[in-house]
Amino acid sequence: MFSAYPVSNRLKDKVCVVTGAASGIGRACAIRYAEEGARIVVADINASAGEAVAAEINKAGGHAIFQHTDVGETEQLDTLLARAIDAFGYVNVWHNNAFKSVFKTIVDQTLEEFDETMRVSLRAYWYGSKIAVTHMLRHNGGVILNTASVQSYFGEPGFSAYQCAKGAILSLTRSIGVDHAPKVRAVALAPGFIHTPAHDGIPPETIERVKQSIPARRGASPEEVAALAAFLASDEADYITATGVIIDGGYLAI
Ligand SMILES: NC(=O)c1ccc[n+]([C@@H]2O[C@H](COP(=O)([O-])OP(=O)(O)OC[C@H]3O[C@@H](n4cnc5c(N)ncnc54)[C@H](O)[C@@H]3O)[C@@H](O)[C@H]2O)c1
Repeated sequence: MFSAYPVSNRLKDKVCVVTGAASGIGRACAIRYAEEGARIVVADINASAGEAVAAEINKAGGHAIFQHTDVGETEQLDTLLARAIDAFGYVNVWHNNAFKSVFKTIVDQTLEEFDETMRVSLRAYWYGSKIAVTHMLRHNGGVILNTASVQSYFGEPGFSAYQCAKGAILSLTRSIGVDHAPKVRAVALAPGFIHTPAHDGIPPETIERVKQSIPARRGASPEEVAALAAFLASDEADYITATGVIIDGGYLAI
C-alpha cells in the first residue's frame, strides 16, 4: 500500500486500536497494521492529525476510522472501545501508545507534572488494557501491545516521571500476559532513539551526540518500529507474551 518494504496480509481479520496514532510511532503502526490487512481505529487527542491518518489509510484502500480521545479520561476510552466494536464488530489488537511527560529530575518536576504523566502515560495504559482484555476474553482473545521504552530498563538522567511510567508499563504488561494467557498476549514494545515529532526542539548537536552513543550510530524511523509491532501483533508472534521486546540499535548493551 504505502511501504517501501514488501508486506504480508498477516493482520487480515484483525481490528487494531492504536492510541497516539496521529503522530510518530503510533501513526506508523496504524499505517503498517492497515498495510498488513487490519481494520484500524486511530485514536488521538489531536483531531486534525488523527483524521488525516485515517484518511491516508482509507485513500490507499485500507479501512480506518478516527476517534477523538483523551486517553487520560476513562469514559473516553470506554467510548473508543464501543466505537471500534460498533464500526468493525470486535477488537483483537489494542495498542496503548500515547504519552505525555516532562523530562526533569524529581527535584525539578512538580507534583502536577508527575500526576499528568501518570494520567496519560500509565493510568491510560492500565484502563485501556483492562477494558480491552475484558472484551477479548469474551471473544476470541487478542493482543495488548504497550509502547514502553528502553527507559523501562535503565536509568538515564533527567527522566524521573517518564521512567516511572515506562517501568510500570513493562510490569503491567508482564502481569496481563501472565494472568490472561493463553487467550490474551501482552507485549511491551521498547524503542530506543526513534526520530519522531517528540524530538522536535532537541538541538541538532544533542541528536548527533545521542546517535554516536548508539552502537548502530543512528536513530531509527517510526516505520522500523512499526515493522516489529506488526510482527508482535500477528499470530506469528504467538509464543511472545508477558515480556518486553527491545528495538534500540544496541543502546542497552553498552
Ligand atoms: N521517539 C522516541 O525516541 C521514543 C523512544 C521510546 C519510546 N517512545 C514511546 O513511543 C510512544 C510514541 O511516541 P512518539 O515518539 O511517537 O511521540 P509523538 O509525540 O510523535 O506522538 C505522541 C502522540 O500522542 C498523542 N497524545 C498525547 N497526549 C494524548 C492524550 N491525552 N490522549 C490521546 N493522545 C495523546 C499526541 O497527540 C501524539 O499524536 C510513546 O509512548 C513514547 O514514550 C518513543
